Amino acid sequence: MSNMVENVLRVTIERLDDDGLGVAGRFRVPYTLPGETVEIKRYQRKKKYYLAFDFDIVSPSPDRVEPKCPHYGICGGCRLQHIAYSDQIRFKEDKLERLLGFSVDVLPSPKIFGHRNRIDVVITPACIGFRYFGTWWRVFDLQDCPVFGPRAGKTTSALREFMAENKLEPYDLKTHKGFLRYIVLREGKNTGEFMVNLVTTEGELPDPTPYFSADSIYHSVNSSLSDVSYGDPVRFWGKEYITERLNDVLYLIHPNSFFQTNTYQAERLVSLVSEYATGSKILDLYSGVGTFSIYLAKRGFTVSGIEINPFSVDLARKNAELNNVSADFIVGKDSDVSDLSAYDTAILDPPRAGLHPKLVRRLAESGPETVVYVSCNPKTFKRDLEILSSSYSLDAVHGLDMFPHTPHVELVSLLRRR
Ligand SMILES: C[S@@+](CC[C@H](N)C(=O)[O-])C[C@H]1O[C@@H](n2cnc3c(N)ncnc32)[C@H](O)[C@@H]1O
Repeated sequence: MSNMVENVLRVTIERLDDDGLGVAGRFRVPYTLPGETVEIKRYQRKKKYYLAFDFDIVSPSPDRVEPKCPHYGICGGCRLQHIAYSDQIRFKEDKLERLLGFSVDVLPSPKIFGHRNRIDVVITPACIGFRYFGTWWRVFDLQDCPVFGPRAGKTTSALREFMAENKLEPYDLKTHKGFLRYIVLREGKNTGEFMVNLVTTEGELPDPTPYFSADSIYHSVNSSLSDVSYGDPVRFWGKEYITERLNDVLYLIHPNSFFQTNTYQAERLVSLVSEYATGSKILDLYSGVGTFSIYLAKRGFTVSGIEINPFSVDLARKNAELNNVSADFIVGKDSDVSDLSAYDTAILDPPRAGLHPKLVRRLAESGPETVVYVSCNPKTFKRDLEILSSSYSLDAVHGLDMFPHTPHVELVSLLRRR
C-alpha cells in the first residue's frame, strides 16, 4: 500500500456520509460519530478523500453505544454498531431524504441480531474470517458473528479442526495457491435448517460429515482466479436443499441461489408487496427464486415471473411445487418484456443498476395500473421514478431496514397510473 500516509492529525467529525463514515474535511473516519475528536495516525489516499486507517477517538460522543460484536472496529460488515438502533434508522431516513429529495420513513428490522441468514467466511493462510474494513487482502479470525448467530463461531471452529486433522491447505489470495477458499453458511431462521458450502479449488475433499453439524454440506469448486464465494457444486452430503419460511410460504435454499438475507424483515417485505398488489394478474419481473411470486400465488393472484437466471427460474418452479401453487416462470430479460398492459400489477425488484431504460419507457407508455417497485439503490430508484412520474403517481414509499448496523437501506414503493 504505497499511498499510505503516516503522521498524527487531530480532527473533529462533522457528520456521517452516505456510507456511514465520519466526515472531517477531506478525511473519512469509519466507526465514528458527529462531534467526536479523532487523532488520525495513518490514512490512505482514495479517489475523493483520505481514508483513516489507524486512529484514536480522543473524545467519544455521549451518543455512542457498546457494540455487541467482538470484531467491531475492524470488520467491514457492521460498521454502525456504535450507533443506537433508533439513530441508525434516523441516519437512513436522512440519507434517503438527501438522495430522493423527499422524506421517507424507514421501518426498523424486527430483529437487529441473529437476523442474517447467510455469511460468507474467507479462508486464508493467516486467518479464517471476514475482511478488515476497506481491504480485500486482510482477514481477521472470526470467533463470533452476532448478526448471524451462534452457528458462526461453532462452524468456523469445526472448520479449523477439519483443516488441521486433514492437512488441508488454505487458499492464498495473493499467490492464488492452496485449496480451501470459502465456507458459506446459510441458516433457515424459521426452520432451523443449516447448510454449509465449502468452496475449494480443484481437488478431493475428505469426508466433512464428522466435523460439521448441518442438514446439508456442499463441496463446490471454483478454480478461477476470481475471488467469489461460490463454485460448481460437485458433491453434497445430507439434503440437496434446506428451506426457509416467510410467513406461510416455504422456499428452497441452494448454495448457488439468492435469498433475501434478513428473514424477519423479508417477511414484512413480502406482506407489504402483497398488500400493494391490485387486480388479479401479476407480473413479477426480476423474480429470482420466486420470493414474491409464490407468496402472491398463495393469496390467489395469477402470477408470471420473468428472470434472467435459468437456475433461479428452475428453483422458482420447484418453490411453486413445494407450496402447491401454480405460477408461470420464464427465463427472460427486462428489456424484452413488452405486453405490460396485460397485467394489473407489475412487481419490479431489479439489481442495483435499476430498471432497463427500455422497460422504463414501456412502463411509462403502457404500463399496468399498479407498479410496486422494490429497490436496493435509492439513486437508480430516483432516476427511474423521474421518468415514471409522467404516467404514475407515487402513492406510498417506505424504507425497509434489511441490513441493521450497515449503511444500506431498501425501498418499497407503490405507484398508480394517473
Ligand atoms: C434483487 S434480485 C431480486 C430477486 C427476487 N425478487 C427475490 O426476492 O428473490 C434481482 C434479480 O434480477 C435478476 N436480473 C438481473 N438482471 C436482469 C435482467 N436484465 N432481466 C431480468 N432479470 C434480471 C437477477 O438474476 C436477480 O435474480
